[in-house]
Amino acid sequence: MSSELIFDRPSIDDGLAVSKLISHCPPLDTNSVYCNLLQCYHFSSTSVAVKRCDELVGFISAYLIPETPDRLFVWQVAVSEKVRGQGLASKMIAHILAREVCASVRVLQTTITESNQASWGLFTRFAEKHAAPLSSEQLFVAGKHLPAQHNTEVLVTIGPWLSGSLEL
Ligand SMILES: CC(C)(COP(=O)(O)OP(=O)(O)OC[C@H]1O[C@@H](n2cnc3c(N)ncnc32)[C@H](O)[C@@H]1OP(=O)(O)O)[C@@H](O)C(=O)NCCC(=O)NCCS
Repeated sequence: MSSELIFDRPSIDDGLAVSKLISHCPPLDTNSVYCNLLQCYHFSSTSVAVKRCDELVGFISAYLIPETPDRLFVWQVAVSEKVRGQGLASKMIAHILAREVCASVRVLQTTITESNQASWGLFTRFAEKHAAPLSSEQLFVAGKHLPAQHNTEVLVTIGPWLSGSLEL
């Protein structure tokens, strides 16, 4: 059996597998299966599912921000422990940005908790690789917007980059 990684848009048939993968990827928040189904249904064109031997090993949910469609918001990034450290998360981001639907995207945004070193590593590396500016500010504050026991979510903005300047 081939161990090739297959990158594709998620479909509603992936919803349960997405839910399972995310539950195995702390510190990601688990969502309801219904939420994961909506990600796979309405945000399929800006999200990616990666399978190896029919098993979901990577997933990104992302969307174009309705008020500012030149901005891609990356909601969750999940890579199975089995395939971490091999560049898969970086490739998934590049795969989404290379799609026609993202042709006008000049800015990537996400939120990261201060302690999530892997996530900071992923996005600072992306900014460095593409020589894009990175800025950050607190967005969803623990004890105010989020329950006190939750970590504050820091909004990270990468870009803007020039049209056509992103080598993917
Ligand atoms: C974060 C995560 C998606 C990274 O997946 P991955 O496929 O291993 O990441 P990549 O191999 O593409 O790494 C990209 C960069 O991130 C950095 N990075 C990855 N894991 C890291 C870690 N544990 N600590 C510090 N930096 C890390 C590396 O520096 C790498 O840069 P490089 O190209 O110079 O080596 C994965 O660890 C994961 O699913 N974690 C649990 C869920 C989570 O925290 N998701 C992110 C929040 S949205």
